[in-house]
Amino acid sequence: MLKWRLTATAVGVIAVMVAPVAAASASGHPTSGEPTVAASTKANALTAMNGEAFAYAKYSAFAGQAARTGKSSVARLFTRTAKVELSDHFAEEAKVAGLVGSDQANLTDAITGETDEATTMYPGFAAQATAEGCTVAADLFTEIAADEAVHAAAYKTALASLSDASVTVPAPQVVDPVTIMASSPACSGQTQVNLLAAMHGEAFAQAKYNLYADHAAKTGHPAIAKLFRGTARVELTEHFAGEAVLAGLVGSNRTNLKTAIAGETYETKTMYPTFSREAAAAGDRAAARMFWTIGREEGAHAHAFAAALHRL
Ligand SMILES: [Fe+2]
Ligand SMILES: [Fe+2]
Ligand SMILES: [Fe+2]
Repeated sequence: MLKWRLTATAVGVIAVMVAPVAAASASGHPTSGEPTVAASTKANALTAMNGEAFAYAKYSAFAGQAARTGKSSVARLFTRTAKVELSDHFAEEAKVAGLVGSDQANLTDAITGETDEATTMYPGFAAQATAEGCTVAADLFTEIAADEAVHAAAYKTALASLSDASVTVPAPQVVDPVTIMASSPACSGQTQVNLLAAMHGEAFAQAKYNLYADHAAKTGHPAIAKLFRGTARVELTEHFAGEAVLAGLVGSNRTNLKTAIAGETYETKTMYPTFSREAAAAGDRAAARMFWTIGREEGAHAHAFAAALHRL
């Protein structure tokens, strides 16, 4: 249990540590919605989005554990909070960061991300897991790398379809969902760190693709919207989930609530107040207000989780 709690703390730390990776992949493309905020505000928004996307995926997994163990009110609390993190917080911050661009820009960004995962990140993680003797993680990373190559190819075809009416947008990959049962970490060392980093990438990809899907639907490209949405489901319910089982993300309801309280407390007391102050100092008053408001909401989440823990 203690070992798991240490891992849970590491999850929170990693949320901040891996943010520059997401920032790099999301910021390198031209977007029609390019924000007018300072670079520091945009970077903070991307860091926050990384945490929000991860919180959504994590709370969805915690809701599953609560439901399986007959704690339906805890399950509802996790599900409801997860929705706020994704539909409100991530979505609002995405506007500040200028995440969503034209369909062409969004597909180009997706191709870059998937290609990097397929050819660099996951093969590297697989080699590291093999070197550390964690075969189960090496096998999973290798399998996911192959999926990401399929995603990259599908997005390339979708991009071609925008300029060539004879090209058909492929259907999304079929999802093979994994249930995130309570587990202990299967690996240690750098492989455990890599699993957590990969989970953040998958959570971010799923959140991003759903916004890209909304945009494609609005611009009259339903097949591209369907491809983004279907791929988002693979990232969350297959890739994130498989990695979460190996990383030991889900514990008992008590442990999960404590993990959630720790994350929300960090966000409400430290991260969002800091981001709000920095945005104000950079002259981004609307962004400063947004960070402040979201920080207040995270405080309410912490309180609700603490009350649920008390009632357990
Ligand atoms: Fe992917
Ligand atoms: Fe993925
Ligand atoms: Fe929250």
